[in-house]
Amino acid sequence: MKRIIPLFAAASLLAACSSGTPSLKKHNIDKVIDAMTVDEKVRMLVGTCTDPANPPYPAPGTEKKEQEYVEDGINTSSSAKKVQGSAGESYPVARLGVPSIVYADGPAGLRIDPVRADEPDKDYRCTAFPSTTLLAATWDTDIVRSVGEAIGEEVLEHGVDIILGPGMNIKRNPLTGRNFEYYSEDPLLTGKMAAAMVGGIQSNGVGTSVKHYAANNQETYRNGINVIVSDRALRELYLRGFEIVVKEAAPWTVMSSYNKINGVYASEDSWLLDDVLRGEWGFDGYVVTDWWGADDPVRQMEARNNLLMPGTPAQIATIRKAVEDGSLDESVLDRNLQDLLSVMVRTPSYRKYRYSDNPDLVRHAAVARKAASEGMVLLENNGVLPVAAPLNVALFGNCSYDTQVGGSGSGYVHRKYKVNISDGLEAGGFVIDSTLQSAYSSHIASEKSKLPPENFWTIPMAPELDLDRSVIDGAAARNDVAVFTIGRMSGEGEDRSRGKGDYLLSDQELSMLEDVCNAFHNAGKNVIVVVNAGDAIEFTGWNHMPDAVLMAWLPGQEAGNAVADVLSGRVNPSGRLPMTFAKSYDDIPSSSNFGVSQGETNAVRYEEDLMVGYRYFTTAGVEPEYPFGYGLSYTSFSYESMKVAGMDEEGNVRIDVVVRNVGDVPGKEVVQVYVGKPAISEGRPVRELCAFARTHELMPGELAVVDLVVDGDNLRQWDDQTGAWTVADGMYVFSAGPLAAEIGL
Ligand code: GLC
Repeated sequence: MKRIIPLFAAASLLAACSSGTPSLKKHNIDKVIDAMTVDEKVRMLVGTCTDPANPPYPAPGTEKKEQEYVEDGINTSSSAKKVQGSAGESYPVARLGVPSIVYADGPAGLRIDPVRADEPDKDYRCTAFPSTTLLAATWDTDIVRSVGEAIGEEVLEHGVDIILGPGMNIKRNPLTGRNFEYYSEDPLLTGKMAAAMVGGIQSNGVGTSVKHYAANNQETYRNGINVIVSDRALRELYLRGFEIVVKEAAPWTVMSSYNKINGVYASEDSWLLDDVLRGEWGFDGYVVTDWWGADDPVRQMEARNNLLMPGTPAQIATIRKAVEDGSLDESVLDRNLQDLLSVMVRTPSYRKYRYSDNPDLVRHAAVARKAASEGMVLLENNGVLPVAAPLNVALFGNCSYDTQVGGSGSGYVHRKYKVNISDGLEAGGFVIDSTLQSAYSSHIASEKSKLPPENFWTIPMAPELDLDRSVIDGAAARNDVAVFTIGRMSGEGEDRSRGKGDYLLSDQELSMLEDVCNAFHNAGKNVIVVVNAGDAIEFTGWNHMPDAVLMAWLPGQEAGNAVADVLSGRVNPSGRLPMTFAKSYDDIPSSSNFGVSQGETNAVRYEEDLMVGYRYFTTAGVEPEYPFGYGLSYTSFSYESMKVAGMDEEGNVRIDVVVRNVGDVPGKEVVQVYVGKPAISEGRPVRELCAFARTHELMPGELAVVDLVVDGDNLRQWDDQTGAWTVADGMYVFSAGPLAAEIGL
């Protein structure tokens, strides 16, 4: 429901125009700030809603006395939000032409209420795009940009100004509950993907909020954990992606993280939010807190955390009191408002954009399906794939019939539908075994009836169906091939377990996989496993039992169609792992410092420093199950030559790599270039990703000269001694190939 300006507000608007009171324009922000009362300034820097359903601040003119706000903490009011289901809105000052700005989640698509009480027949569901990790696995900025453009159109057409995404924290450990919302273990891949996403979204004239700045790499104690990390690791790993996205895509806003970094809350840290973000990187937008983040609004104001979301009456009272008693200078508010208003004048709300509430969801579904099929990673294939329809398929695993399309929390989307793997295979011309389908469907229905309904915060999963060996034998006799889906769920607010049923397969899954493989192999038939999870599980020990393994991630609402596209060969898989899959969880350096560290109550020590992911495995010579950058194709590629030009005047290095499709079907290759730097200090990884590009689809025999530019910034090292970046003298070794684990050229 759109907000109707109450009569008295319209009157004051009229009065404003006549009395020379400025009305917000790009060129008169200073005047508008000068015309504001302290009360208006404070309210503009704190969101209007503590309870997303009921903002505490009624329309102007009907406010209760301040004391009542403070006393009753969260006050509800009848004023409807501009967009129901938004995550938060900012305070309007109608007399000065300052609109309320609308913020909504999230990284996988726009999340607003799917239906509205006063419009029961209108549907506000949006497109559930593939999860962030799947997008990173495409290694293709064009694909990610296309998803961003579609998300941005839905943001614009539903009256939202800023979408709270992309999430882009480094995958320090596979158990992080929100890893599906993040790109990679590597900062360059993270930064480039996030820049493509931000560019796509903002091309619609709406804003983003890159999050969570910074070092929010776990959910355990996320609101208060103190991350203890070296400057070098902070700079080269945890801040680097944000540096790239700020410099290359200019996000309108940055969301500070909940956690502390070396003892200081990110949202209260002026070094992080001002010196580095603005001073060094040239950020010209504004910073919003994570929702209810941190606890000292005065320190947040001073640190240039411009806007406190979603906002509470207590924050208003605290800031106003500090201004009145002189402990917070009003000029700090003015500075924070300057940043805010300079972005506000770009927003659709300011431009009074007449949104349609009718984005092109059909076109966006096609974008979601294409992206999903391009990001899936083929991990094993003994030649069984691709399989051509029509084929009789025995589908095992709950998630074949109730496929997980996205994670819970901020990354959830109220979607119109989801295409399960069973639906997608059927639509692709495969015949699904009806005996199994009815067994699973009734099992899932009866088990889910005992569970709470799905909502954005919780996505319940039914326990796996136990099948007798006789049922499996029967299915092996009736069908040509088996597809077994292993599904996992995760979400905001909780990290995953390293135990069975999460990071590890459950005993039941393992024994069922053994039974299915025995039965189908005895019948001379093949087994394909599809992993439907947001991040790594353990593959070691079982991944050579089936004939093929496809990592499908959380592929969005078009999941089943995308899986069918890949299994059938309509799409030749070209996804590559954006993180390392270890042989064992204990091989992962951060496994000994995840959650809280030994002897700490509320701190986690990043003792592995730079040794995260492939940086560790290649340097320590520990073999992973599947290395960073790994992925099979239905064709194969040869790396024929590599030419490294000298450093140009900007300090960049051009590298040409010649690859050829030496297989017999068209395919795309992801060329990765790694650099070994002359170490200026201990613990320098032997190689680091410094450039990458995915080729267009190469025909069999076709050769491509891939022209890569290694940005000079990627040749730097952080020098803890001098507290500055340096490009050391010495020998730089560049290698190009298909993955981090082996030197191609
Ligand atoms: C949450 C998340 C953040 C989200 C915000 C609004 O706590 O940490 O990613 O955008 O609050 O829902």
